[in-house]
Amino acid sequence: MIFRSRRILLNLGIALLTIGLSFYLGSPNFATDSLHSDVQTLVKMGARVAGSPAAERASEFLVNEYRKAGYEVEVQSFNYPKFADVGSDLTVNGTAIRVWAMVRSIAGNPSGRLVAVPNYGKPEDYKTINVKGAIALVRRGGGMTFAQKIDQAAAAGAIAIVIVNNQSDNVRGMLMQPPAIPAVAISGKEGALLFAQKAEVQATLNVQSRPNAIGRNVIAHLPNVTQPKLIIGGHFDSVENSPGANDNASGTAVVLGLARQLAKSPQAQQIWFMGFDGEEDGLRGSKAFVEQADLKFLANLKGMLNFDMVGINDRLLVDGSGALSAIAKSASGDVRSSRFGGSDHMSFKAKEVPTLFFFRGREPNYHSPNDQRVEPRLLVETQQTASRIVTQLLK
Ligand code: BES
Ligand code: ZN
Repeated sequence: MIFRSRRILLNLGIALLTIGLSFYLGSPNFATDSLHSDVQTLVKMGARVAGSPAAERASEFLVNEYRKAGYEVEVQSFNYPKFADVGSDLTVNGTAIRVWAMVRSIAGNPSGRLVAVPNYGKPEDYKTINVKGAIALVRRGGGMTFAQKIDQAAAAGAIAIVIVNNQSDNVRGMLMQPPAIPAVAISGKEGALLFAQKAEVQATLNVQSRPNAIGRNVIAHLPNVTQPKLIIGGHFDSVENSPGANDNASGTAVVLGLARQLAKSPQAQQIWFMGFDGEEDGLRGSKAFVEQADLKFLANLKGMLNFDMVGINDRLLVDGSGALSAIAKSASGDVRSSRFGGSDHMSFKAKEVPTLFFFRGREPNYHSPNDQRVEPRLLVETQQTASRIVTQLLK
């Protein structure tokens, strides 16, 4: 009996030792693993274009992760002009064909005869046809702008216009002003089939667009931290058709990593962590943030640290303004200063907040669909350098 319980104790001891040892040995990889998996989670969401469902999912992911790390989280919404087609189509003979609303087209759901306009839709081309109350089908080109084609169709009484691209794919046309009637483009391939119809057909156009985007900044801080000394942030949105691994899931993950690392430290009492939205549309999120902030709040900041594209290229670059670049240099030997790239720190710099911009420069996949991967060790190295700088700054 004694023997047996001793053996159980021994086994228990070995088990505990093994668990402890594996934690100890594994611990250097914890940061790497979570930073890398955060990047992968964001990349899997697809292009996080500001105002899109994917960007909203990214903001929700950040909210959850910051909460899990022990922070209070606010989402700051902001609105700005940004046209988007949110699923327009043309239904002919019961079949819906995807069409693209021209940028700035009015929305609507017009229904009527689909009338093929000869040639390119010049005024004389309407003499032989009747488009009153109808949807005009017009070829692209012929030395006319989209706006001129729309004006002619509307003048002839059309209630909507479908412009057929002069190549087999579709085109995203842009108008300088909202047109009088809903205006869309269709691919050359599908347009050719419509032109080939012998008899006149009924069609319904469904133009679903919105003129504005809603951006969402994620702001995380410990309870009762109303006036931070430091803002640490990076944008989480990406450009269209790019999953934005390096630009900028990398910076987003490093900011989150710093928040996790510092959660229990005294420094966290002086920091706000932020994920900015709408950076790719012209620093919209950071601008919205500094515009709504009190002047006193901004004046009390010792600095703003921005992380953008920190997962590719070995050399970490830090561009500093004011007192911060000297501190960055003393905290890390490899840090070199360089002027490059527009990002969210500029919104703070414009309000005279000292800034540090952490980045690793351009790379071949910048703003492309291939921006799918980062190097985990570079994320970790960025976080380590940054945390040394944060410690120096908040001493
Ligand atoms: N991440 C880039 C900025 C950048 C580029 C940093 C290269 C480091 C190296 C950022 O998202 C971006 O594309 N910015 C735009 C300007 C912005 C105002 C739309 C740029 O730099 O062209
Ligand atoms: Zn970026």
